[in-house]
Amino acid sequence: MKKQIERAGELRDSLQYHNYRYYVLDDPEIPDAEYDRLFNELKALEEEFPQLVTPDSPTQRVGGRALEHFNEVEHRVPMLSLDNIFNEDGLADFERRLKERLNSAGTISFTAEPKLDGLALSLRYEKGVLAQAATRGDGRVGEDVTVNVRTIRSVPLRLSGNFPEVLEVRGEVIMTRDGFAELNRKAVEEGTKSFANPRNAAAGSLRQLDSKVTATRPLSFYAYGFGEVSGELPQTHFEMMQTLRDYGIPVSPELRLVEGANGCLSVYQDIAEKRDQLNYDIDGVVYKVNSLALQKQLGFVSRAPRWAIAHKFPAQEELTRVEAIEFQVGRTGAVTPVARLQPVEVAGVTVSNATLHNMDEIERKDVRVGDTVVIRRAGDVIPEVVNVVTALRPVDTNPVNLPQHCPVCGADVLRVEGEAVARCSGGLYCEAQRKEAIKHYASRRAMDIEGLGDKLVEQLVDAELIHDVADLYSLEADQVAGLERMGEKSAANLLAAIDASKQTELPRFLFALGIREVGEATARNLALHFGGDLQAIEKAPEDALQEVQDVGPIVASHVVSFFQQSHNIEVIDKLLCAGIEWPSIEKPAAEEQKLSGTSFVLTGTLSKPRDEFKTRLQQLGAKVSGSVSKKTDYLVAGDAAGSKLTKAEALGIRVLNEQQLEELIENAIE
Ligand code: IVH
Repeated sequence: MKKQIERAGELRDSLQYHNYRYYVLDDPEIPDAEYDRLFNELKALEEEFPQLVTPDSPTQRVGGRALEHFNEVEHRVPMLSLDNIFNEDGLADFERRLKERLNSAGTISFTAEPKLDGLALSLRYEKGVLAQAATRGDGRVGEDVTVNVRTIRSVPLRLSGNFPEVLEVRGEVIMTRDGFAELNRKAVEEGTKSFANPRNAAAGSLRQLDSKVTATRPLSFYAYGFGEVSGELPQTHFEMMQTLRDYGIPVSPELRLVEGANGCLSVYQDIAEKRDQLNYDIDGVVYKVNSLALQKQLGFVSRAPRWAIAHKFPAQEELTRVEAIEFQVGRTGAVTPVARLQPVEVAGVTVSNATLHNMDEIERKDVRVGDTVVIRRAGDVIPEVVNVVTALRPVDTNPVNLPQHCPVCGADVLRVEGEAVARCSGGLYCEAQRKEAIKHYASRRAMDIEGLGDKLVEQLVDAELIHDVADLYSLEADQVAGLERMGEKSAANLLAAIDASKQTELPRFLFALGIREVGEATARNLALHFGGDLQAIEKAPEDALQEVQDVGPIVASHVVSFFQQSHNIEVIDKLLCAGIEWPSIEKPAAEEQKLSGTSFVLTGTLSKPRDEFKTRLQQLGAKVSGSVSKKTDYLVAGDAAGSKLTKAEALGIRVLNEQQLEELIENAIE
């Protein structure tokens, strides 16, 4: 028993500490999944030995206490929490328990909607006017954040329609991913503290004592329920949410009405698939019994309603240990620190490396070898280190230093004052940079050499069969066939693909050369401006280059310095001798560019690759960009269009489907 008493005490202390970090400081040290594990361990321990339960145990209350700086607000109807389930079994149990309690075998109707990863807010409207906004606090007493909430644009200050005398709306304050990225970008630029994730940023912003600061933060609000309401209520939760919408209150567009656990599950799968495309973080799907009468009948258990449950997604954050910090050299010589990790499964994938971006980032997060760190893997994004759990740092660690010499070629590593990136000065003498340059040259959007993947490039360079991209064109079949995992057939295929790449287009070729800051769009503009004449580009001075669309002084200087290096000219000459050629480009006459001056954004799944539409639009003079703004003229929305569509609609931008786009292009060509 002594052991259990001790463990319960430990868990309580630890939970209290992490609660404080999370609720009071808005700066959690461990991922939610780890907190849940500690919490569940304590809960299980207390269930087994009820005599261990103390009144101050974290299991006996909902969350943190209200901060002193804001006035306290007592919630007339307590703000509840939700129980969690993690799989289909949990969902089946939930449905079974409901049926038992309701003593009915019939199918239950549920609402299903995303569980937003923000913070709970209660809005009180009196006579249709926003009278008070309060955070959840401990569920019974929260903080009065009215002045701050008034700055959130999606929260109406006045209701519309036939609203009741008193209406308390419950919902979640969130920060969009775009808004969060922009906020952190600015923080880095200004050298101020950045936030770990959108939820912390939303919480920090809402609890700003200076509401002018809050006003600059991109916060949003979605309602998911209600507290005190005067007068008659509709019969169902779904109708109530529709009613709130009618009053002008934002409700998640993903709210669905479904039948039984199966209906819930299909929404779960739907939303899980959409998750990465949403512009805000969600961590699961919430199911609620639709009938308000049944909700009332089911009631509550201590902190959560019996009629609702959160079906959580697998955690995207986990804890692991940093085994080493190594430095990788990229195509442009950028030296990037990478954390080698004790392998850990994050949301179903084993992660053993995480990027640390650059030295500023390492210094800011103070990541050291031996540290226990929080790893996040979201969508297709490269796993990253979110923060260090300083409490678990071993005694004898050292801060990480930037190596003075390139780990690959030994050349000096240089860091330009004021720039975050450090670079190997070895240029194309550095094997790492050469390999990356060749990989880039062969890649799909560049010369598109089928079968020449990263591994094969490494093999070819390691075997000293090639030193630069031009050497590709003098490779011989028997040399290639001799490489590991290659045979005569695959060697012949590779040589055929290399040969086929000789017939190309100048924009591809320019892009493939890997000139700094020259992406596909710039390469296209350059090629077009100089009518397909590579020599003219090679010889163009900076001022002439700056006449090219979207080319400023920085890009121009990179282009000039690229062509000033004799090594680059030699490689280009070798490539041309090998037979690389492209059709001449006639600069389309202005009158042919029917779409010049118009700006498009493409989103969602279209019947053909987006690039194809992009090229066609660009040929007509249109600009195609990646994000929606006030300057966007048209949004082309394919299937499963996500946040860009929502944004375009909000900005009143014209939305086209694929058919309409085809028609528009047709008309422009005629
Ligand atoms: S319903 C009476 N619906 O999750 C039921 N909560 O873990 C109260 N949350 O405090 C909650 N999205 O801050 C509900 N669609 C949603 C939600 C949601 C996010 C948050 C909310 C709550 C916490 C409970």
